Amino acid sequence: MSLIFVAPDRSLSAWKDAIHKVDPNLDVEIWPQIDNPKRVQFAVCWNQPKHVLDNYPNLKAVSSLGAGVDHLLEDDFLPADVNICRVVSSSLIQQMKEYVLGTVISIQRNFVHYIRQKDQQQWQAHTHPLASDLAIGIMGLGKLGKPVAQQLSELGYQVNGWSRSPKTIENISTFAGRDEFSAFLQKTQILVCLLPLTDETNGILDLETLKQLQSPSWIINVARGEHLVDEDLIYALDTDIIKGAWLDVFSEEPLPDRHAFWNRSNIMITPHIASITQPSEVADQIVENYKRALSGMELNYEVDRQKGY
Ligand code: NAP
Ligand code: GLV
Repeated sequence: MSLIFVAPDRSLSAWKDAIHKVDPNLDVEIWPQIDNPKRVQFAVCWNQPKHVLDNYPNLKAVSSLGAGVDHLLEDDFLPADVNICRVVSSSLIQQMKEYVLGTVISIQRNFVHYIRQKDQQQWQAHTHPLASDLAIGIMGLGKLGKPVAQQLSELGYQVNGWSRSPKTIENISTFAGRDEFSAFLQKTQILVCLLPLTDETNGILDLETLKQLQSPSWIINVARGEHLVDEDLIYALDTDIIKGAWLDVFSEEPLPDRHAFWNRSNIMITPHIASITQPSEVADQIVENYKRALSGMELNYEVDRQKGY
């Protein structure tokens, strides 16, 4: 039996070492060097080539190397009896909290302006809102969105959250489902997307959504590039519907050289680094799920294929 890693754009030796620290006897292989495809029962994937998993007839389960699973679910050939899971860890949550807090404060306190002004030796103060006057809306109140929302609330921001099913979270105004989406947007100035990418959420950051935010407004997208309709963001910025955007994820990554986002001073870009999975933090979860898959048990952090996350 073997566990394989299929992640062409990642350096995987640290992953293999981390798995062997948890279980030195486990047979771990790194795609494309797979000795005997029939022995493969568990695959850990990130941006795997389409149909690559077709080659393993005895595959029982697949884990995402990260929190998102859209790259696995779009592989619609994966047979229904192959279970899908993902990783969740305190360091993924901590990194996401840091990223969103950093971007919110940079927007609120005009840090981007000051960094540019320093380059031009320009001494000019800008007004900024107090945290208590700034309404942040978090789309997605899951493993990442909920702690992000709670941290902002603890720091004194007004926080609204939106999810699929209703939630009660102390000091956070919560909204659920499409029926309450407009009410959520209308109470929000800085909109943070932390939704999984599904058929329902693809393209959700469109002009209709951006128009409903409280002015002046910004968006922070740390979920997936496909949540955002790129042309609608450009239009919304050009027509002052929103003031700026902070983007960590893009429909095409790396963001192509010719992409319109590069030349916009009101779009900040980071190269999908908001929260990176640390091998040593999740190796035990992966080994545990490998063993569960082999013995036919339900997986931890298993994905509901119907819901898409
Ligand atoms: P999660 O635990 O599955 O939570 C998803 C949240 O989204 C849940 O609150 C869910 O509502 C809500 N949701 C799903 N579909 C919805 C819909 N149609 N309408 C309203 N709410 C909906 O996911 P997570 O672990 O927090 O991760 C979220 C995403 O972050 C991942 O899928 C990944 O794409 C992205 N991510 C990005 C980075 C990065 O570095 N940029 C790193 C890690 C993750 P319910 O609670 O009602 O189910
Ligand atoms: C990163 O984008 C992840 O889904 O973990």
